Order: sequence, then structure tokens, then C-alpha cells
Amino acid sequence: MNKIIESTVAFVQDRLKFAESGHDWSHIQRVWNNTKLILQTEEADYQICELAALLHDIADSKFHDGDESIGPRVAGEFLSSLDLDKEVIDHVQKIILNMSFKASLGEIAFHSKELEIVQDADRLDAIGAIGVARAFNYGGHKNREMYNPNIAVQEYQDKESYKHSEAPTINHFHEKLLLLKDKMNTKAAQAIAEKRHEFMLSFLDEFYAEWEGKR
Ligand code: ADP
Ligand code: NI
Repeated sequence: MNKIIESTVAFVQDRLKFAESGHDWSHIQRVWNNTKLILQTEEADYQICELAALLHDIADSKFHDGDESIGPRVAGEFLSSLDLDKEVIDHVQKIILNMSFKASLGEIAFHSKELEIVQDADRLDAIGAIGVARAFNYGGHKNREMYNPNIAVQEYQDKESYKHSEAPTINHFHEKLLLLKDKMNTKAAQAIAEKRHEFMLSFLDEFYAEWEGKR
């Protein structure tokens, strides 16, 4: 591991010591691994992808009163202490600002191959068995209902309404998690997403059947 990545790992581990366990260091490790996996078949700047994967959740707006500038700012401050070109720092900050599902519901002002890769890597960790676990952990953390058949699933067209959603966790599958498969940017992520998507469908099938006492 080179010095820059090594210092970034130490910084992120420290920042996320008390994080909710769906957005903790283990999430970052999985996203980092997914990033490296996707990079085996995609041409992109390796260092920018790795730094963005490592730093993307150090100050998530969800846990900071909706402030979307704090993550890129903290990342920028940290990266400025390392021996890096300004363009690299700018690029990593832009990825962090634009890679979230919420950002993708708004106007996207920035595109790059590196953003596409890290976004896919993060989205892969939101689906499949890990996706199920993370969703219920987050719902529990927020004290949300697991499921309420009387609360309809919404289709969020804009960032603001999505941000203020307090829907039960099962709704989150229909509002976001089941949509991710078709939003993957890279072939490698699309292939992995297929299987994880199928798993979520069978989980939901089983969940509803058990809820209604049919199994
Ligand atoms: P992104 O960075 O892609 O916008 P988030 O950080 O909002 O993603 O969400 C990451 C993960 O946190 C989700 O995939 C899900 O597991 C969990 N999560 C976020 N919002 C909710 C919610 N309203 N209900 C259940 N889980 C959620
Ligand atoms: Ni993430």
C-alpha cells in the first residue's frame, strides 16, 4: 500500500469509529474492494477512484443535518495535507458531492469515469444480502417501522422529498434499492447486481408471505 492510501485509511478509520454500522469502516472496505474489482475491467485513474471510495462517507449529509458540503470539505482539508495535485483533490471532492442516490435525483453537474466506478461500487453495497442488512440497520438506527402495509410506496422525483422521507424500511426497497440494478454504469457492476437483485426479490417475497401468515 502506498503512503497516501495508508494515511487515508488511517484517517477514515478514525473518523468512522462511532459510525452507524451500515456506514462504518467495514462499508468503506467493501466499497473499496468493489472499486478495485470494477477497475480490473475499466480504464480509469486508480488513485482518484481509491481516494474517493475511501473518503466518500466520512461526513454523510444524512448524519449532518442535510449539509451536503461537509463531506467534500472535510475530504479536501484532509487531502490538502498530503502531497497531491490540486486537480486530484478537486476531482475526488466532485465525486463525493455527486455520487449519492440523492444527488442523482437532482441536477448532475459533473461526470467522470472515476465517479461512475465509485458510484457503482457504493451501490453494489446497498443491494443483495448486505443491502438487506444495511437497510434494516439504518431503519433501526432511525427507529423506523420495518413494514406498514398502509403506508404507500412513493416515487421520489426530487431530492428534497427523498431527504425528508421517514417511510418504513420495506418501502426503501421499492423507493431505491430495487432501482439500483438498472442504474449501474459499468458492465462489471451490472453483472454483480443481477444476482444481488434476485436475492432481494426472493427476500421480499418471503417477507410478505410470512407477514401475511402464508408460510
Ligand atoms: P447514497 O449515498 O447512495 O445516497 P445512502 O447513504 O442514502 O445512499 O444510503 C446508503 C444505505 O443506507 C442504503 O442503501 C440503505 O441501506 C441505508 N438507508 C438509507 N436511507 C434509508 C432508509 N430511508 N431506509 C432504510 N435504509 C436506508
Ligand atoms: Ni457509501
